[in-house]
Amino acid sequence: MFKPDLKVDLNGLVMNNPITVASGTFGFGREYGEYVDLNKIGGIMVKGLTLKPRMGNPSPRVAETPMGMLNSVGLQNPGIEYFMEHEIPFLRQYDTKIIANINGTNIEEYCEIAEITSKADVDSLELNISCPNVKAGGLAFGTDPKMVHKITKAVREASGNKHLIVKLSPNVKDIKEIAIAAEEAGADCLSMINTLTGMVIDINSRKPILARGIGGLSGPAVKPVAVRMVYEAAGVVNIPIIGMGGISKYEDAVEFLLAGADAFSIGTANFVDPSICEKILNDLTLYMESNNIRSIKELVGQVIK
Ligand code: SIN
Repeated sequence: MFKPDLKVDLNGLVMNNPITVASGTFGFGREYGEYVDLNKIGGIMVKGLTLKPRMGNPSPRVAETPMGMLNSVGLQNPGIEYFMEHEIPFLRQYDTKIIANINGTNIEEYCEIAEITSKADVDSLELNISCPNVKAGGLAFGTDPKMVHKITKAVREASGNKHLIVKLSPNVKDIKEIAIAAEEAGADCLSMINTLTGMVIDINSRKPILARGIGGLSGPAVKPVAVRMVYEAAGVVNIPIIGMGGISKYEDAVEFLLAGADAFSIGTANFVDPSICEKILNDLTLYMESNNIRSIKELVGQVIK
């Protein structure tokens, strides 16, 4: 029996396998290390980082929904300095790529954190212009192609030659023009999708369940939207795509690859089963063996229209 080649090369970011974990669903990896061998994960997209520590939004900030969840965490994190001092050395013990998700409230802040992080011992930056849970920054930068181009270009310049992923929002009119804007401005890779904006209301109090009212929907409920968006983006850009949105089993991952993703992220499913990445890795390997698929490349974009 042959051993399938799971290695992927995302325009210079070479990972042992196509499995990554979505930012905000895996912390900095520490808590998950007990349940999953971090060496088995191709890349870890760490919790969204900002220049200064943030407490995030008031509670409640998560709510369960049919086949998914809504969050309005608001980028709670210990700040970039703490990450560099305490979390990078921890993650570096493992054979996985470190992908730093970076955030800001304006272009200057995005550039400042990009410059600092690009000099740190991380493998890639993930420019988050799609968080729906903050007053300034986030989604405000990710919905207009001109703005996507402007911020990506500025961050590209601030981060030198560091590998740069741009994380796209699904809350847009046309994902194709957003993807093109990021590519033209110098992104090495795209990750998509972030959460879809949503709301749940308690019919007794008549108030939204989330303290902030609106949050971001993730989980299996969003998967068909995400697959469609990956498919559309893959049709218009030449840079690789990390697909995500509702992946909870290997079949979902294969769908994303067939739609045109070169790698994929597990997000909300980590909350349900903290060892899910290893299961998906094993199942994907078996699927490839039993279907005589020798490398991930043989699956990418192979949907039959
Ligand atoms: C959050 O911390 O609010 C979630 C991050 C994101 O949606 O990018």
